Amino acid sequence: MPVAGHGTRLLPATKSQPKEMLPVARKPIVQYVVEELVSNGIQQILFVTGRNKASIENHFDHDPELFRTLTEANKQDLLQETNFEAMRAHFFYTRQRLQKGLGDAVLCAENFAGEEPFLVALGDSILGLNAVSRAVSRMAEVFDAQRASCVIAVEEVAREETAFYGIVEPDASEGDVCRVVHLVEKPAPANAPSNLAIAGRYIFSPAIFDMIRRVAPDRRGEIQLTDAIQLLCEEGRPVIAVKLSPEEKRYDIGNFPSYFESFVEFALADPVYGVEFRRTLERLLAKTPARTGVLV
Ligand code: UTP
Repeated sequence: MPVAGHGTRLLPATKSQPKEMLPVARKPIVQYVVEELVSNGIQQILFVTGRNKASIENHFDHDPELFRTLTEANKQDLLQETNFEAMRAHFFYTRQRLQKGLGDAVLCAENFAGEEPFLVALGDSILGLNAVSRAVSRMAEVFDAQRASCVIAVEEVAREETAFYGIVEPDASEGDVCRVVHLVEKPAPANAPSNLAIAGRYIFSPAIFDMIRRVAPDRRGEIQLTDAIQLLCEEGRPVIAVKLSPEEKRYDIGNFPSYFESFVEFALADPVYGVEFRRTLERLLAKTPARTGVLV
């Protein structure tokens, strides 16, 4: 799970804390991602971290004092939600020393992955309300059945939004699984080959590492993972896209509009506070006239 990025689009919130630790309703983003992976059978998780990311490691560490306090107070719900040891997942950490892009972050996992296929899950993207997605399991089945080199989760986005995402060009096949012939990073709507956006989950064979090494840095000096996947396509290796269902909507917490929307949607669905929060929102909306933002 790459979590080493600077998160500059969420400054100043991310000046000294990782964006992956920002709360969405009750939990930090990264906890939803871990819960999704574990519920899909993933047992070994390597975090690719960087400077200022120690709180991620602390979050998943055992805290005997907190454990004792919650046990004595008989707070079973909280015990369950903070006892990561009971998850039967093993957490590992390595550092990306310079933030040279997502492709470079994935390369930091080469020794960990060894000769095995592996999943990449972006630490700032939640799949489905409360992370209920089974997409990773479906992707693993497709990876095995089609002897793929890469399987990517994709989501349909509005045409006018293609410039915010990596977009795939599928072959002519219909349905929720299709072969990818080409990928483009953030195309203008007029040039986008489809409206299928790469959605933060990938399964790779170790062949990806050589492709990443062959990618030249972009104009910001970053090694793009999308460019490495494009090289797999150019070599004629099977790159397959698996569509997310509407219930598996991707919450991409990389910018403020999306963060605000995600927080509100999760808070509205909260089993304890959701109903009251809805009333509060309705009250606020009724009395607050729409304002336009003023840039200073
Ligand atoms: P983003 O593409 O959103 O980049 O990363 P970013 O650097 O975090 O954010 P901005 O663009 O400065 O606002 C997607 C995921 O990839 C990780 C991030 O931590 C995030 O989970 N990432 C990105 C790395 O691990 N290393 C990098 O060099 C870049």
